[in-house]
Amino acid sequence: MKQEILNILESRRGEYISGEELAENFMVSRAAIWKVIASLRKDGHVIKSRTNKGYMLENFSDVLTEQGIISHLKQDTLIKQVICFDEIDSTNNYAKRLAMSNQALHGTLIAANYQTSGRGRLGHSFESPAGTGLYMSIVLKPENIEAAKFQFITIVDAVSVCLAIESLCPELMGETKIKWVNDILIHGKKITGILTEAIMSFESGEIDSVVTGIGINVTTKKFAGDYNAGSIFPDGSAKFSRNELCARVADYIMDFAEDLTQPFIIQEYRKRSLLINQDITYMKDNEIFTGHVTGISDDGGLEIINQSGIKETLRSGEVNTIRRQ
Ligand code: BTN
Repeated sequence: MKQEILNILESRRGEYISGEELAENFMVSRAAIWKVIASLRKDGHVIKSRTNKGYMLENFSDVLTEQGIISHLKQDTLIKQVICFDEIDSTNNYAKRLAMSNQALHGTLIAANYQTSGRGRLGHSFESPAGTGLYMSIVLKPENIEAAKFQFITIVDAVSVCLAIESLCPELMGETKIKWVNDILIHGKKITGILTEAIMSFESGEIDSVVTGIGINVTTKKFAGDYNAGSIFPDGSAKFSRNELCARVADYIMDFAEDLTQPFIIQEYRKRSLLINQDITYMKDNEIFTGHVTGISDDGGLEIINQSGIKETLRSGEVNTIRRQ
């Protein structure tokens, strides 16, 4: 009953629901409803109560929960399973453990409020403080995705995060930018990182599952390491909950994963690209090069004219760092 009451409050967030209505709904006394509300408050949910009006889940109440996420998924969602942690080492690690023990279906979503060992690309760590960020991973299985199309998953993630943020907060429409290949920036600050990992089958030598992980700084104000890190809402007042954001991002990813190469995805990616028409410095095979970016290819490569005046397409796996000059 606790989960169901939370579901109802979540689906009508910001609105009072009378204790009587809830009591009738669950065929229990109003005192029993009051006890459930007290228990939800203990879990951190901010629920206002008013005589003659009932209970209201405050708009700023932001406890990441399985039910909270599920209540915001689309009715025809392709997400198959949601697992949410208050604290975990890394959602990518957990998803990988699940996939390696054959316990993860295509569309398994792992979310966490806090990661003790969040991982970034190239062996870096990813700062994952509690309460202010969203850390999520999705397991995708190759029965549903052709192996040759795996490179598109990071692109799909980036576009999904941008579309989710802009659709949930129209004030940010047009403000989400993508720095090839997988950083998302708002107002020049990196607010999201993406780490996609493949799990190989020893027997077949083929990719068994893909774990794609996304870390989003929602209201984080202080960052210990990354000087260019920022948040969607740097003043700390979010316009949507992490549950909503998680569900929206996951739904976009799963829908796009049905057809990873549909032109819409790369068009949305190009529209937000920070590097097109810019001069860049990049590192390849431990050497530093310069070039001018002319576009993004249909398969997500960075099209440049290099320092020798030759056209080249850079691939995400071969370039380490990339900077605008
Ligand atoms: C990067 O910017 O280098 C990528 C950061 C990816 C962070 C996310 S948070 C959820 C998932 N779990 C992890 O340990 N890493 C990814």
